[in-house]
Amino acid sequence: MNEESKPNGTQFEGKEEYVKEVFTEIASYYDEMNDLMSMGMIQGWHRFMMKKAGDMKAKKCLDIGTGTGEIAFLLSENAGKDGEVFGVDITPKMLEYAAMKMEKMDLPVPVIFETGDALSLRFEDDSFDIVTSGYMLRNVTDIQKAIAEMHRVLRPGGRAVVAELSKPDNRMVRYFYELYMKHRVYWLGRRYDKGKPIDGKYPAYEWLVSSIQGFPKGKEMTDKFIEAGFFEAQHFVRSMGAVNIYLGIKK
Ligand SMILES: C[S@@+](CC[C@H](N)C(=O)[O-])C[C@H]1O[C@@H](n2cnc3c(N)ncnc32)[C@H](O)[C@@H]1O
Repeated sequence: MNEESKPNGTQFEGKEEYVKEVFTEIASYYDEMNDLMSMGMIQGWHRFMMKKAGDMKAKKCLDIGTGTGEIAFLLSENAGKDGEVFGVDITPKMLEYAAMKMEKMDLPVPVIFETGDALSLRFEDDSFDIVTSGYMLRNVTDIQKAIAEMHRVLRPGGRAVVAELSKPDNRMVRYFYELYMKHRVYWLGRRYDKGKPIDGKYPAYEWLVSSIQGFPKGKEMTDKFIEAGFFEAQHFVRSMGAVNIYLGIKK
């Protein structure tokens, strides 16, 4: 990656390779960082996602950009032994950690983890009841296509529940949020990067902060759900705007 294509904002040259490289290198400490950076709030965001997914008993579910599997494990718990759960991610290393974690768990139904691209899923049209995705959209090269794929693989009546980080609207909250992101998150990221192969390259957590700037949220994002064909799209603001959760329902 040359200087001009240095990661910045939502789209840049070489993004797909950069994203894979980043998640390969941070996979071993990704969960720990998530908990620290979200100040433990991430579990609450995931519970909220499950609530919005509705009744999941015995349903067929797909978590896209599943990473280390946290959301997929919740899908399994909610779908129960008669359910079916898939977790897809473009970075094999993240899936390795998901699989290692699952070995130590006693889930009602094992998650089928597989490598795949959110922009061209291998699944047939109308094949899932529920699709989830947490914090992946910022990482893809075509947000609209990723949402269209969620819509395509959902059955009529199916639900897509998507979480994404965002910048709070309220000026006062945003002031403290920016301080937190600029100092605490950079600092934590650099501490974890130290001595790792990623050390010295463009720091992964610096990109995390820059990728939130200008990323579509709220109505701008629900419009994308409608454009993708969803019959209904809603958004819910959590943690004073640090996270937006979207619900799309297919007709
Ligand atoms: C911030 S992590 C989120 C992981 C997980 N959903 C969670 O809640 O912790 C984003 C994940 O999206 C994956 N990803 C990025 N681009 C992707 C794509 N085009 N298709 C599938 N997964 C992708 C990354 O490999 C990474 O594991």
